[in-house]
Amino acid sequence: MSIPTGPAGPLRFPDDFGWGAATSAYQIEGAAKEDGRGESIWDTFSRAPGRTRNGDTGDVAADHYHRYAEDLDLMRDLGLRSYRFSISWPRIQPDGTGAPNQRGLDFYRRLLDGLHDRGIAPMATLFHWDLPQALQDAGGWESRDTALRFADYADAVFTALGDRVPVWLTINEPKTVVQNGYLIGHHAPGRQDPDAAYLVAHHLQLAHGLAVRALRAADGTARIGPALNLHPCYPADDSPQAAAAARLYDGYENRLYLDSLLKGSYPEDVLADLGPGSRMVRGIRDGDLEVISSSVDLLAVQYYTPIYVTADGGTEHRWPTSEAGWQQIYPDGMYDILTRVTRDYGAIPLTVTENGLPTPDSLAADDTIDDAGRISFLRDHLAAAHRAMTDGVPLESFHVWSMLDNFEWDEGYDQRWGLVYVDYPSQRRVLKRSAHWYRSVIADGGF
Ligand code: FCB
Repeated sequence: MSIPTGPAGPLRFPDDFGWGAATSAYQIEGAAKEDGRGESIWDTFSRAPGRTRNGDTGDVAADHYHRYAEDLDLMRDLGLRSYRFSISWPRIQPDGTGAPNQRGLDFYRRLLDGLHDRGIAPMATLFHWDLPQALQDAGGWESRDTALRFADYADAVFTALGDRVPVWLTINEPKTVVQNGYLIGHHAPGRQDPDAAYLVAHHLQLAHGLAVRALRAADGTARIGPALNLHPCYPADDSPQAAAAARLYDGYENRLYLDSLLKGSYPEDVLADLGPGSRMVRGIRDGDLEVISSSVDLLAVQYYTPIYVTADGGTEHRWPTSEAGWQQIYPDGMYDILTRVTRDYGAIPLTVTENGLPTPDSLAADDTIDDAGRISFLRDHLAAAHRAMTDGVPLESFHVWSMLDNFEWDEGYDQRWGLVYVDYPSQRRVLKRSAHWYRSVIADGGF
């Protein structure tokens, strides 16, 4: 890839760079009970008392299911070239199995046609955490069968929508399901069971591989890859203990997923740490790693924060945090993680599918939203990505998280991550200052 070198000063991206933004189904669609949609684990979880801030649910969210055309117009107005969204499994298979629900497929067909009409390339994620509740009741991701069900679901979606989708992503952030869903328990299904958590990791990886194979069997030209949130893990001090602790931490945060997908093996240090008696290690069957490492066309990287690991294996913060307490603002981490992936795993094409932060946005009297913090965050992270490209990283595209303010899981609607402000009582959309800025960046091919 050749990076145009402009006059000194401005950072220029390749002419065909995929400027984009991202969302996910449960976070924006609403219409929880419409057109035959089944229940997902996030419906159950968010409706249970005390699970989300203010008891918020995704029942209405940004009402995108009904307002998608208006949202697509906003994307066109910004000049987006790529839109990353997710397909809701319980809209397609309300109980997680069986014949697809045509009305659910029809919604995504309308969305894809709308993107096509506006010249925006779709990037569709098959699973962004909204597992059909019926599958959870049958064991969820602790059950190997869920991976097989996922392959059937993926096949149904490929068959129905494949003509319109050039790039598929399989599973969004398996690590977050493992950590937040099964270790900490503040995401659905709300478990705190480390032994279950890593079995879930294996089944999510297996599901990914089975979906890749289903796409290859369907014989199309579409590309497919995983979507991983990667965290650079740095030792918090110069001691050998901190270095060793950071190395193992990196195993759990990054190599568990990267190595199995791209090298066909789980990292030895993590397997040893889990122990031979762990449910995960006992759950790996002959041939699983070959399926998991089925060849992919691209790797989607989501970067939000670094992790500093102390000698005793704990973590500490070194940089200012955003309104999301877990997020330290450290743009160089973007450079470090992108270059590391290319160095350690070869020149697989990369896309950044999420990067952003929540800001304390409010609507001013003149109907503007001055989210200066988002502009400087994105400028710094894009500059770091550009530096990685200059150093040889094959980065194709970049998607801001998020296109719209939305339901931020257990944080409900308090955190606003969008380029576009959503006034929830009226569902009115207002472009934030960052959206205007992003439009000019796209138009100029840089900044
Ligand atoms: C990522 C999720 C996305 C959103 C952002 C803030 O981990 O994939 O849905 O919650 O964080």
